[in-house]
Amino acid sequence: MKKMLIVGVAAWFAAAVSCFGADGAALWKQHCAKCHGADGAGGTAMGKKLKVKDYSKEAVSDDAIAKSIKDGVKEGGKLVMKPTAGVSDDDVKALVAHMKSLKK
Ligand code: HEC
Repeated sequence: MKKMLIVGVAAWFAAAVSCFGADGAALWKQHCAKCHGADGAGGTAMGKKLKVKDYSKEAVSDDAIAKSIKDGVKEGGKLVMKPTAGVSDDDVKALVAHMKSLKK
């Protein structure tokens, strides 16, 4: 029983500490899920209002993701997604990797 608990905790720890310094999933939840949804499909109230695309189906390039985080996204001259404040370069890398992993 005790052994199983230790194995369980070790597995959780290994999953939490991925090969990235920053945790893409946590950053996604914090900065992006409000509009793009936890699964990237954009099924949130905010996502529907802003008509975000379904990024669990639509592929998007590394560069486009990094750029949208740093510069935001404009549509028809209007800023529809603001640049994300308070994320480091490592955070951006982790977010790029996480967003790509949402595409099935
Ligand atoms: C306030 C709502 C909102 C938040 C928060 C938000 N986005 Fe967006 N995002 C949008 C909208 C609206 C669009 C434009 C419609 C679309 O392309 O889906 C968009 C577009 C994008 C695109 C496509 C850019 C392109 O070139 O086509 C990417 C990539 C993206 N967002 C990533 C992110 C990431 C990563 C985060 C978190 C760091 C994030 N978004 C947070 C609303 C948001």
